[in-house]
Amino acid sequence: MRSVSAQELESWIAEGRILEQDTRGPKVVMLQNARYLKIFHTRRHPAIARLRPAACRFQRNTIRLQHLGISAPEVLDVFWLDAKSGVSGCIYSPLAGEPVESINKREPERICRLLPSLAAFIKTLHANGIYFRSLHLGNILELGNEQFGLIDVLDMRFKHVPLGQRLVNRNFAHLSQYLARHQVLNFPMDALVEHYHSLD
Ligand SMILES: Nc1ncnc2c1ncn2[C@@H]1O[C@H](COP(=O)(O)OP(=O)(O)O)[C@@H](O)[C@H]1O
Ligand SMILES: [Mg+2]
Repeated sequence: MRSVSAQELESWIAEGRILEQDTRGPKVVMLQNARYLKIFHTRRHPAIARLRPAACRFQRNTIRLQHLGISAPEVLDVFWLDAKSGVSGCIYSPLAGEPVESINKREPERICRLLPSLAAFIKTLHANGIYFRSLHLGNILELGNEQFGLIDVLDMRFKHVPLGQRLVNRNFAHLSQYLARHQVLNFPMDALVEHYHSLD
């Protein structure tokens, strides 16, 4: 995997717009050409991170999702940003859509209308054996026409059989914890789960 130099990274960040950052620096940058740069810092030991770079796992997950008919960003390039520390990155074309979280903030009444199709989308993930540990409202995009897609797809497991009840419950528990942590108190979580189970 090629390495991108520190200077190139600096100019991407300087010319782009930082969308997300944390204490370690920028995480998602919108580049001048409207593509996105995602930077993967890692808590893994650098030697382990070097064996399986996060950017490659991210790309592989987007491809597997697309094969299953689930919309995900299209990764155009993966590279090292700091191979010694295991920091990798990728460039992708964004999904044209809006995070469900922003819709919920701006137009909560629209969420009620979207709820059955959102439940059906989550059901499709589970039926396809997709366990997305970061399944939350910021990582599900509404693409228009009540279609949905996923971003931030690093933490994902693909099983060969539909998820069992235990993992389904755990997935919904994550979502509930996310809502509590982010104080998203208006989201109709119970109704979402009810719609989901009505599809059984
Ligand atoms: N593929 C994409 N399409 C559209 N917007 C995106 C995409 N990827 C990231 N974004 C925007 O960047 C934000 C954070 O991206 P994300 O990959 O979820 O990073 P983080 O690890 O910070 O959660 C999202 O909330 C969204 O607004
Ligand atoms: Mg995210």
